[in-house]
Amino acid sequence: MINKLFRKKSVDQILQDSREGTGLAKVLGVRDLVSLGIAAIVGAGIFSTIGLASFEGGPAISLLFVFVAFACVFTALAYAQFASTVPVSGSAYTYAYVAFGELFAWIIGWALVLEYAVSNTVVAISWSQYFVSMLEGFGIFLPKWLTMAPGYAIDAHLKFVEQGLSALNVADKAGLEAYVTAPRIADIPIIFDFPAGLVTLLVTWLVYIGIKESQRASNIMVMIKVGIIVLVILGGIFYIKPENWTPFAPNGVRGVMGSVAAVFFAFIGFDSISTTAEECKNPQRDLPRAMIICLIICTIMYVAITLVLTGMVNYTDLNVKDPLAFVFKYVGFDHMAGIVSVTSVIAITSALLVYQLAQPRIWMTMSRDGLLSKRFARVHPKYRTPSYATIITGIVVAIPSLFFKMDFFVDLTSVGTFFAFILVCAGVLYMDHAGLSAKSKFKVPYINGKYLIGAGFLLAWILLFNYGEGTIAEWRRLSLVEIVEHKSLVLIFWLSWILLAVLGFRYRFSLLPVVGILINLYLMSELGASNWIIFILWLVIGLVLYFAYGFKHSKLNKTTA
Ligand code: ALA
Repeated sequence: MINKLFRKKSVDQILQDSREGTGLAKVLGVRDLVSLGIAAIVGAGIFSTIGLASFEGGPAISLLFVFVAFACVFTALAYAQFASTVPVSGSAYTYAYVAFGELFAWIIGWALVLEYAVSNTVVAISWSQYFVSMLEGFGIFLPKWLTMAPGYAIDAHLKFVEQGLSALNVADKAGLEAYVTAPRIADIPIIFDFPAGLVTLLVTWLVYIGIKESQRASNIMVMIKVGIIVLVILGGIFYIKPENWTPFAPNGVRGVMGSVAAVFFAFIGFDSISTTAEECKNPQRDLPRAMIICLIICTIMYVAITLVLTGMVNYTDLNVKDPLAFVFKYVGFDHMAGIVSVTSVIAITSALLVYQLAQPRIWMTMSRDGLLSKRFARVHPKYRTPSYATIITGIVVAIPSLFFKMDFFVDLTSVGTFFAFILVCAGVLYMDHAGLSAKSKFKVPYINGKYLIGAGFLLAWILLFNYGEGTIAEWRRLSLVEIVEHKSLVLIFWLSWILLAVLGFRYRFSLLPVVGILINLYLMSELGASNWIIFILWLVIGLVLYFAYGFKHSKLNKTTA
């Protein structure tokens, strides 16, 4: 039983499978990959969730973007090593099949649903917010109850009842209007985000009938996205009031770290480049370069945008869903607000398209391995697309986008993606240990971690004792039960560091993947226990599905039975 759970695909077997596959054209170079990466990375994170993040953390959110980018760079190196060893689609799912065996591969594939399908729910909701704002710019007003999740309206109504009209901001007032004007069935207000559901279905339909993500189309979309961001930066610079940057971190470190999920969300997607490994001219050389270039470009854009937004408008006013257009409305530059709204709608559509394309292809790979029903690998005879998997993706994204609030999905996506990133970094340690790295054409640069991981741990504690009086005092006040109750995530982080120091000493772990694991784990521990609980529930559902189906139907069953 245990052997079956951890049965692995060998690198040679995966390469053999891919040679027998479709024989995709090897046409992509660094520039194409960077373009694809930016198409996937830049989306709701920078167009929408940055608003709430800045509201909570103030201008200091710009520093959080840099910190999170570091976590992504270490992870990108690990992805690049895997992609150069196993240059086939399937992303982290395929890598886990090689490194940790089938059970972990399934778990990663299941977590990737959070990164692709669930994150696309956020992108659809963000699209709707810009679309509604664009229509309003043209004087077209949809009924409010057709443009938001019921949760927003119910919260606004509650706030109104408890605190009165004067306590409501612009978004709350829209929510209250939706609540009051909504049609009712048995006294239940009917409120849903119609544009979010509709755009998801339209994009799914395009993907279904075989729209080609041609390089030209991708380049145009990326140019529009980067164009708007540069426009906002250049146009906004003239409206910056430096006094808005003081205080820089109004809610302290807590306020900044409270936005980890939103900031990390903005970077998600760079790993999707790795799924094109079979179509790269020179994946070993180009994939690592492209991922790092994408991360550098996005970090610079994100930091600049954050400084511009928080410089133009006081952070306390940024609790809006369409911040890039809002700041120009705020300063009275309505034409610019209009241009940003229209182009943002096009730019966000492209992000929606990329993930709507990627999710069915990951399911297709899992289905070919026998872990999902054969239907997920069904290819449409005329359109040559994974038809069934595409339809299911459409439903899985469209329905929640009609009824749920964005923030919930941002958190869930981030937990799942951190988890996948940690396993990919850990996978490199396994590859080194099992001698598989010898087959890697790109290797994460090796720095011997034998002593450094433990030394880093000691250094962190010395710094904590010298400069972390507040943190130490907080811990001293807590009883053992309270520590377990409130600080268990932080404890997991420190215990993992000790474990990695011991194993690293014994097996001479490569330092960089360990740093990747620790930074990702630290950021993940900042997400709050409730997100972890939901994520664990998600994993349990995944395990039930695996034992009910994949375990028995896995292709590897034939060889290990
Ligand atoms: N990074 C992607 C976005 O921000 C998920 O939309």
